[in-house]
Amino acid sequence: MKIARFSRLGFILAAAGSAVGLGNIWKFPYIAGEYGGGAFVLIYLITVLLIGFSIMIAEMLIGYLGRKDGVSSFEDLAPKHKNLWKFGGFQGLAGLFIMIFYSVVIGWIFHYIVTSLTYLPSNVEEAEKIFNTMLNTDIFTQLFYHTLAFIWITYVLTKGIKGGIEKMNLVLMPTLMLILIGMFTYATTLDTFGRAVEFMFAPDWTKIDSNTFVVAVGHAFFTLSLGMGAIMTYSASMQKDSNLVTNAFWIVFLDTSIAIVAGLMLFTFLYQYGSGPAQGPGLVFISLPAAFYEMGIIGNIFAVLFFVALGFAGLTSSVSLVEPMVQYFINRFNWSRLKSSITMGLFFYSLGVIALLSNVDGYKEALTWNGKSFFDWVDYITASIMLPLGGLVMAVFIGFVVEKQRVESILRPQLGWAFDAWYFSLRYITPVAMFIVMLSLMEIL
Ligand code: PFF
Repeated sequence: MKIARFSRLGFILAAAGSAVGLGNIWKFPYIAGEYGGGAFVLIYLITVLLIGFSIMIAEMLIGYLGRKDGVSSFEDLAPKHKNLWKFGGFQGLAGLFIMIFYSVVIGWIFHYIVTSLTYLPSNVEEAEKIFNTMLNTDIFTQLFYHTLAFIWITYVLTKGIKGGIEKMNLVLMPTLMLILIGMFTYATTLDTFGRAVEFMFAPDWTKIDSNTFVVAVGHAFFTLSLGMGAIMTYSASMQKDSNLVTNAFWIVFLDTSIAIVAGLMLFTFLYQYGSGPAQGPGLVFISLPAAFYEMGIIGNIFAVLFFVALGFAGLTSSVSLVEPMVQYFINRFNWSRLKSSITMGLFFYSLGVIALLSNVDGYKEALTWNGKSFFDWVDYITASIMLPLGGLVMAVFIGFVVEKQRVESILRPQLGWAFDAWYFSLRYITPVAMFIVMLSLMEIL
């Protein structure tokens, strides 16, 4: 099968679209809040630069050299033990699993876009009640918007790399950035902006322990879309003479700046109108709507724009979560794109319904094991086990399995003197760090 190519800008926006997702706008601000702000942000930034950037280049290289779906790329690039190494490509399954809860959250966002048009809760207690009612009792609303998310995502996938994924990213990503920049600019005019900056950047070292480090590394993986083949699959459609290092730089840069802009903006609003930064996962669905309420009518406009931006971020990430497996079935089983997209869509959709029900009273008990609902289990298994494991496999694959001279011929001209440092860190530092993170994450969560 011939894989379609992205345009140069199309690739960067699609890969950045994959990276910039719920992780940046929903998760980053609340974990930064939970883990004490500045010190966490600093560790996260260092991890992104040292580990994230280097694995991003490795993952890109597998796709760029392999030029096929993940499984075939791994197979083709392994000089020996092809049958063993092809399992590396099955990391794409992690994406389908992530989609099980990701699409449910996108459904919530759609619902919030609609309700914020006319109504915002007047305080945090009310906001919490509204959110919990939706989560625990309102099957119909959740199902309706979950279905909408499924249709949107599957439709884009049926249109393929150029006509679907690239096209959507070319529109949604610039819109998302404009919305965030607009709201951020407004936030800079408020008195509490300085407090938000201080919270995000002044490190309080007393708050740091090994847990902070582990969470920061785990999040760096999730937010950069590493370890499950999204970046690898997109890179198979990169233009032939592209510079991988520059591309990786842009993706990391856009992803990180958007997380920081979103964090500063949200904290400013929460200091100015709400209840401060440490809020947990309900931050954007509970504390934020209550803060928007305090702004008056502009709050409704901001709330809608904010949830639109969040929805766009989620949708552009979603297509990248499913595309690896869509390509696998097209390439290996000769399925049409239509058949493959719809089958993968139905897979995450139906399990998504179970994830959704696992938060609903009456179904919860049957769908909870060891204190975690099905929804939480999927999140836990993907983020804590599958992504770090995938990253580890990719680092080892490029570091030890693919012939060095093949790697070097492409990357030495692009990395220059830094090639040796990169290669060394990929072989020895990253795998050890990933292994430790994986073990600790499994214990902590
Ligand atoms: N990077 C996305 C986010 O921050 O929400 C999530 C994600 C997308 C993870 C694609 C992994 C992936 F392959």
